[in-house]
Amino acid sequence: MAGWCLEHVQAGSRVVELCAGSGAISRALAIEGPGLDQWALELAPDAIPYLMTNLEGTGVRVVEADMADGLYELDGTVDLVVVNPPYVPLDAWESVPADVRDHDPELAVFSGADGLDALRVVAGVAARLLRPGGLLAAEHAEVQHADVVELYARHGRFDTVRDHQDLVGRWRFVTARRVP
Ligand SMILES: C[S@@+](CC[C@H](N)C(=O)[O-])C[C@H]1O[C@@H](n2cnc3c(N)ncnc32)[C@H](O)[C@@H]1O
Repeated sequence: MAGWCLEHVQAGSRVVELCAGSGAISRALAIEGPGLDQWALELAPDAIPYLMTNLEGTGVRVVEADMADGLYELDGTVDLVVVNPPYVPLDAWESVPADVRDHDPELAVFSGADGLDALRVVAGVAARLLRPGGLLAAEHAEVQHADVVELYARHGRFDTVRDHQDLVGRWRFVTARRVP
């Protein structure tokens, strides 16, 4: 997904990462990108020190906020929103690898009965942040392939909705364009 983002930005592009966690995606884009104007937003107070440490010296601005309620000052100006949100259904606890289940905070992993609650919020947040023609890239679970494409295609504020495979051929992230 980060690779796709790098192919769709240029020098000075304004990029917002939602649900930034450790900041791995923002750090990759800052290091490998052509000189971007970046923000990284995260809700969990425990994650913020890691996020700040990992993004130190990159110029990425860190914002502690709920994505549903943050960065209103950027509305309509963002070229790319990228997000790796929580997307595991609440009752799919058993399917989560032990290293994640036993160590990751619930807020980072689970997202409602079908796992799509955060991705629904992302649709609304990306629709307000993106400029007309701006792009969204959002990670999801392989089994959510059809549901996520439908979610963004039916939203009304996006077109050019495409799903993408990861390097081993699993459907793992959706991209969409904010309607011009
Ligand atoms: C799958 S993790 C992201 C991992 C990240 N890509 C990394 O490399 O660390 C999802 C993140 O979303 C955050 N999160 C969950 N709900 C959120 C919300 N409403 N607003 C902002 N961040 C949220 C969690 O705290 C967690 O850090």
